[in-house]
Amino acid sequence: MPFDIARTRAAYPALTEGFAHFDGAGGTQTARPVIEAVSAATGNRSTAFVPGRRSLDLVAAARAAVADLLGAEADGVVLGPSATALTYTLARTLGAGWGPGDEVVVSRLDHDANVRPWVQAAEAAGATVRWAEFDPATGELPAGQYADLVTERTRLVAVTAGSNAVGTAPDVAAIAKTAHAAGALVCVDGVHAVPHGPTDLASLGADFLVTSAYKWSGPHLAAMAADPARWASLRPAKLLPSSDAVPDRFEYGTPSFPLLAGVTAAVDHLATLDPAATGSRRDRVRAGLAAAQAHEEAVFERLLAGLAARPFVTVYGSPARRCPTVSFRVAGSAPAETAAALGAAGVCLSSGDYYAYEYFRAMGLRDTGGAVRASVYHYNTVEEVDRLLAELDRLAAAGERMAR
Ligand SMILES: Cc1ncc(COP(=O)(O)O)c(C=O)c1O
Repeated sequence: MPFDIARTRAAYPALTEGFAHFDGAGGTQTARPVIEAVSAATGNRSTAFVPGRRSLDLVAAARAAVADLLGAEADGVVLGPSATALTYTLARTLGAGWGPGDEVVVSRLDHDANVRPWVQAAEAAGATVRWAEFDPATGELPAGQYADLVTERTRLVAVTAGSNAVGTAPDVAAIAKTAHAAGALVCVDGVHAVPHGPTDLASLGADFLVTSAYKWSGPHLAAMAADPARWASLRPAKLLPSSDAVPDRFEYGTPSFPLLAGVTAAVDHLATLDPAATGSRRDRVRAGLAAAQAHEEAVFERLLAGLAARPFVTVYGSPARRCPTVSFRVAGSAPAETAAALGAAGVCLSSGDYYAYEYFRAMGLRDTGGAVRASVYHYNTVEEVDRLLAELDRLAAAGERMAR
């Protein structure tokens, strides 16, 4: 059945404003059921009274929802304010057990949220950091290099499932296999990849997988999934009176109960994207995201072809397996100027380095403003792509007039 784009778009109240949102990689628009769920949830937790028990239920429900999204166990889902915060917690916890001679492997393709916490934890422990490099021409992160990078001293490999700069979807399963053969753990950043297709913790080979709900129609909360037994083997720094249970002991402070209600609603929403899907919520989420992925790929193909046809556009990277995200520059226009000109025309894109710090530094683009990023989400249309391309043509024509 073809993807019902009109029905899908109707679920996002913000889309009626008329902006073309190609900024989903920075944060998607929020789905209506999420907004409703957040506004309905109130009050602090307690086992003593009904409203308090409802708040406790929100935590359990959000864990179960994220578990269905990632193919994890609900008891293995740690909830937190952001992917960055969760990764710092894990890095500090694991790093406390490292010492000189130990090694961690990070990649220059990753968002800094899956780089700096590991680099800093390694530095604090006197451990060594080794770097996986991407191919500057294609944006690929060759999995083969990990055979040399990973040794019996490697304690952790941190790698992205999807680059938020150029979209690359590295062969995480192959990288994880190499890491596991040497006894290392693998932390996968799924923040960019998870919104764009079905995800499975086990097939990725991830020991830890992090995702942020605001990249998949939900609120500004994040989750990290792992085998509950893995969490049970770790002792994070924590307050004395807070729960020592797994996974609670990795969560700090009082949770945002309304936003947790939004997390569950967002997963439930993803489970409706293929209205013909049946079965468990996990089955329906997978079907919904597969349907969304096929739609996104068609829209993205038109965008890539349109960019490639314009000689005044330089596109960075051409990875074979990718999320529908592309970075580019327009000749004669600084990335921030391009984004501002498009924004003035109602077309929303990000510019800069979007915290893909090492990528833009290695490309020599960081000091001159990075790039402009267009990412396609399941509510985008080919008409919006044509609108974006037409605005780029207008920008280039205006630039030419100025140069004359
Ligand atoms: C690939 C990737 N990883 C990590 C992050 C950080 O996520 P959070 O804002 O939840 O810390 C982002 C945010 O843009 C991202 O795109």
